[in-house]
Amino acid sequence: MKLIVEKDYEELSRRASEILVKEIQDNHEIVLGLATGSTPKRMYELLIEEYKKGSIDFSEVQTFNLDEYIGLSEDNPKSYNYYMQENLFNHINIIPENTHIPNGKAMNLESYCKEYEDSIKRAGGIDVQILGIGTDGHIGFNEPANELEAETCVVNLSESTIKANSRFFASDVMVPREAITMGVGSILKAKKIILLANGEKKRNVIKDLLEKPIISTHLPVSLLRLHPNVTIIVDEEAYEGEK
Ligand code: GLP
Repeated sequence: MKLIVEKDYEELSRRASEILVKEIQDNHEIVLGLATGSTPKRMYELLIEEYKKGSIDFSEVQTFNLDEYIGLSEDNPKSYNYYMQENLFNHINIIPENTHIPNGKAMNLESYCKEYEDSIKRAGGIDVQILGIGTDGHIGFNEPANELEAETCVVNLSESTIKANSRFFASDVMVPREAITMGVGSILKAKKIILLANGEKKRNVIKDLLEKPIISTHLPVSLLRLHPNVTIIVDEEAYEGEK
């Protein structure tokens, strides 16, 4: 795992955006795995700026999002679908059919998850996967547990995630209890992975990831140790080791 420590959130976002700009320039048909949450927001703004400057073209880019809450329709402002339209897709020339976000209102969730997984395979797999990280070490919505799912699946959110994500809702009780998430296997099949973490809240989990040389389903992010091409970009607040 390659570690990059940037001074602050702005620099972290710039570094991540620079890497993605180069990847998109090198491969116009790139398949991107995208994350939501507060972490990648500024990176998306910077990508929009690069698009407006003419440095990148999304017309042949495909995207697959990591996760979505179950029960929220795509026009619900709390849904990850809405987030992606607002924070990226509405501002670039991506073709809507080339964007994929799990459908939290799918009728048959089991067959839907299989279909989502198959659509990633049909696209040729993910070239670059962007990841955030939960304070409990989750990636996507793969929560710490005795077992983790390999492929796209329905999961129950942990209490700590419900609490952490309640900041986007009116209260804890409004946070959906279930979500669809790409599995850890779906994530690990990406050719490259870029994990972003900023702020003091992520310091403990980043410390666990970097300092404990273990792989555990109780720290889902530790499975990234199995992947040959992971770049972790943190800011100084999220990192307490030597720079
Ligand atoms: C959420 C999402 C994750 C995200 C993480 C961190 O629960 N399911 O995909 O990476 O939590 O979110 P944030 O960037 O807001 O800290």
